[in-house]
Amino acid sequence: MIRRVLANGFLWLEARFDSLFGARWNPLYQLGALGFFYYWIVAVSGIYLYIFFDTGTTEAYDSVEYLTREQWYLGGVQRSFHRYASDALVLMMAVHVVREYAFGRFKGPRWFTWVTGVPIAGLIIVSGISGYWLVWDQLAQYIAVVTAEWFDWLGIFGEPIVRNFLTPQSLDDRFFTLLIFIHIAVPLMALLVLWIHLQRITRPAINPNRGLAVGTFVMLVALSLVKPALSHAPADLSVVPVRLQLDWYYLAAYPLIEILSNGAVWAIVLTVTLVLLVLPWLPPRWKPRPAVVHLESCNGCGRCADDCPYEAILMRPRSDELPFEQEAEVAPSLCVSCGICAGACPPATPFRRKSRLVPGIELPDLTIESLRDRLERACAGAQQRPRIAVFGCDHGVPETALEASGAAVIRQPCIAALPPSFIDYALSRNLADGVLITGCREGACAFRFGTEWTAQRIEGRRDPYLRKRVPRERLRIVWAAANEGARLRAAIGSFRNDLRDLAGSEARGSGAESEERAAAGAETHA
Ligand code: HEM
Ligand code: SF4
Ligand code: SF4
Repeated sequence: MIRRVLANGFLWLEARFDSLFGARWNPLYQLGALGFFYYWIVAVSGIYLYIFFDTGTTEAYDSVEYLTREQWYLGGVQRSFHRYASDALVLMMAVHVVREYAFGRFKGPRWFTWVTGVPIAGLIIVSGISGYWLVWDQLAQYIAVVTAEWFDWLGIFGEPIVRNFLTPQSLDDRFFTLLIFIHIAVPLMALLVLWIHLQRITRPAINPNRGLAVGTFVMLVALSLVKPALSHAPADLSVVPVRLQLDWYYLAAYPLIEILSNGAVWAIVLTVTLVLLVLPWLPPRWKPRPAVVHLESCNGCGRCADDCPYEAILMRPRSDELPFEQEAEVAPSLCVSCGICAGACPPATPFRRKSRLVPGIELPDLTIESLRDRLERACAGAQQRPRIAVFGCDHGVPETALEASGAAVIRQPCIAALPPSFIDYALSRNLADGVLITGCREGACAFRFGTEWTAQRIEGRRDPYLRKRVPRERLRIVWAAANEGARLRAAIGSFRNDLRDLAGSEARGSGAESEERAAAGAETHA
């Protein structure tokens, strides 16, 4: 229920962003890549700040003040840049997590990417908090005392940490050396975990589209100039800070520690972490079965491995007698059952009639043979003329929303699970007068590459191509999200009109042709 509300919210927002920026520049489709981009900005600006930063109870504050005020044109801008890019990183991360959750991308084999994301979130937050601490102003003092009390509640440290912050004399310079170490080591650890995070993703999008990168970069520079990041008054352990401006992206938990007890906040943090970690295994169970290879039909071409979005196919030396060098092997624990590999496999063609239709690779729950049967049955039952076969996907417009369209609807987990030869088959065998291809919105495919691979195969830019002989005027592609049933129905309606016009002009054409032929015949006879 919560997931459905969130997913609908994202679909609504993404459509607005699509019309504002276009699919290629829609930030919601590039959250992970934007996260990386902000990470690098934070890293580069951080190196500059580090060069001027001095460790010590008074030196730390003074060096940051020097950067902010004396060297405002470079150091000050870098400081603001460092802060705002860090905030943007947390924002992107939060939206990325909620979006992956909303669209259910944490179950089954995706557990790995989800679970490795959880420590990243923790490490990024800890990095940010340690950064605020380094400035050693009144905000840092507040964070120091509240954090120390929070950890002391656990009672595992021999001597309470908070003692270090009781009087100005109790704090020594080594503390800043430790802090700077944390502030550098923790983000590096986050980077390492990010690398692990992407191990099961083929060609992960780690660089945002150039336009989006330049746009957000300019926005960050503008924000840094208009509203530079400033420090509070210097920390003074003999005074309790009263008015503080919190950075809610990193420090939202601090007021909570004050409102609730230390124990309650520990309980919240641990419960949230635990729930996130076990989420992939909570009901409902992940049911789809992984793809299977039929060696007798596999020629080792490697297209399935090229197209698999989740690194689930390995090409290895041939293990049977067939005269090919390689064969495909599926790692079942990595396969998310999208079926894209079956869509890429050359022997997955419905034209094969003599033997059983067994491709090199397919989903056991949705074989290529059963796809052909479904296509033939659906087209035979198509109610309206001209007959339109709609090939769709489980993540796009639901079948029920298309019932009123009178089209023959054939759905698969992903639109790229459709071998292009099926389009040729539907039209050349006169099962349908037109074929409409639909799937998730452009740039927002549930299986990452489905819409892109499909478009490329149809345009002849990716194997297996859609044959040239297929009349393109009888083919239409309409990408539409799950909540865009009305738009897709309208597109089907207008396609039907176009097909009617086409039939009319073909009839006129053939009428004129036969008249010409008859006239030519009459002349010959004369
Ligand atoms: C700074 C933090 C993070 C960055 C930079 C980041 C980056 C990325 C990138 C680049 C991808 C691949 C996107 C693609 O090419 O389709 C990805 C995927 C993913 N991330 Fe993150 N991530 C971060 C944090 C997290 C967190 C905290 C979680 C969850 C707890 C998470 C969950 C996921 C999941 C489930 C996927 C896989 C999506 C799919 O299967 O299609 N990420 N992330
Ligand atoms: S179904 Fe095929 S393409 Fe999809 S993840 Fe599994 S092996 Fe890869
Ligand atoms: S695409 Fe088909 S034929 Fe080619 S390697 Fe994969 S399973 Fe074998």
